[in-house]
Amino acid sequence: MPQHSTNQKVVFITGASSGIGRSLAFAYASHYAKQGLVLGLISRRETILSDMKSQIEKEYKSIRVEISACDITSPSTPTLLETLTSRTGIPTIMVLNAGIGHQGKQIGQGDISDDAAVIETNLVGAMRVCHWVVGVWERVGCVGHVVGVSSVAAWRGLPTSAAYSASKAGLDVYLDALRVEKYGKIKVTVLHPGYIDTPINDMMEHRPYLISADKAAQLVLSRIERGVRQAFIPWWPWTVVARLLAMLPTWVLALAARKFTK
Ligand SMILES: NC(=O)c1ccc[n+]([C@@H]2O[C@H](COP(=O)([O-])OP(=O)(O)OC[C@H]3O[C@@H](n4cnc5c(N)ncnc54)[C@H](OP(=O)(O)O)[C@@H]3O)[C@@H](O)[C@H]2O)c1
Repeated sequence: MPQHSTNQKVVFITGASSGIGRSLAFAYASHYAKQGLVLGLISRRETILSDMKSQIEKEYKSIRVEISACDITSPSTPTLLETLTSRTGIPTIMVLNAGIGHQGKQIGQGDISDDAAVIETNLVGAMRVCHWVVGVWERVGCVGHVVGVSSVAAWRGLPTSAAYSASKAGLDVYLDALRVEKYGKIKVTVLHPGYIDTPINDMMEHRPYLISADKAAQLVLSRIERGVRQAFIPWWPWTVVARLLAMLPTWVLALAARKFTK
């Protein structure tokens, strides 16, 4: 196990090959171009990560990028993360961003294995990575920062997105428990994006208040840097929408859902 270096910032990002994670890797590289930074990029598609490594290291001489082709649903994840850490040093920030979308089906329709895959990736996969990094920080006595990329969908069980909402609500509650267990030791930030223009949702007909992945990554980076407890991405209108969603009577949501799914 490599030693923890107190002055080297090492940021691990899961789901770094696409969308928010990819843009966040470039945003970090640009932001730390002067001070330097080590990035650990994690996802299943190794070729994309390898291209990103070349691109970032060519453009930003002070940024070192190491990659790991890792499926976070696999039990081999901790071993792969150890190998990555032997090249980067111990991560100081772990961004739990990898995720998959829902199939747009109601409960009882289609195959349950699709819903199980959403939970397995967005919740159990994120827990697997989080469990590993917290264990490492405990062993070396290091103060780390966990960032969970959740969703506005965590604020209410959304029709035709039940498994997705459940996965994100589960992640929120899991990270809240971490916050309590490691109070004063580990910083926890939970981010709730609205609609961000990425492949996860580009098949959807309605994507209100859509923003680009680059814009979202800038907001994500600034919230991580400020060490906030929770934030919506972007702030407007999701701060209001999420709270309204949580308060709406079931019949109002059911009527709205019928209108949108017609
Ligand atoms: N876009 C939005 O509107 C939105 C809104 C709210 C929340 N979010 C959340 O934001 C996060 C990023 O999503 P995105 O919008 O950027 O989607 P995306 O472009 O589809 O990116 C998803 C990333 O997750 C990785 N991934 C998926 N399954 C994985 C697995 N089993 N192991 C390792 N990596 C895996 C993918 O890489 P590989 O395929 O290479 O493995 C990819 O890099 C997700 O957690 C999503 O739920 C997105």
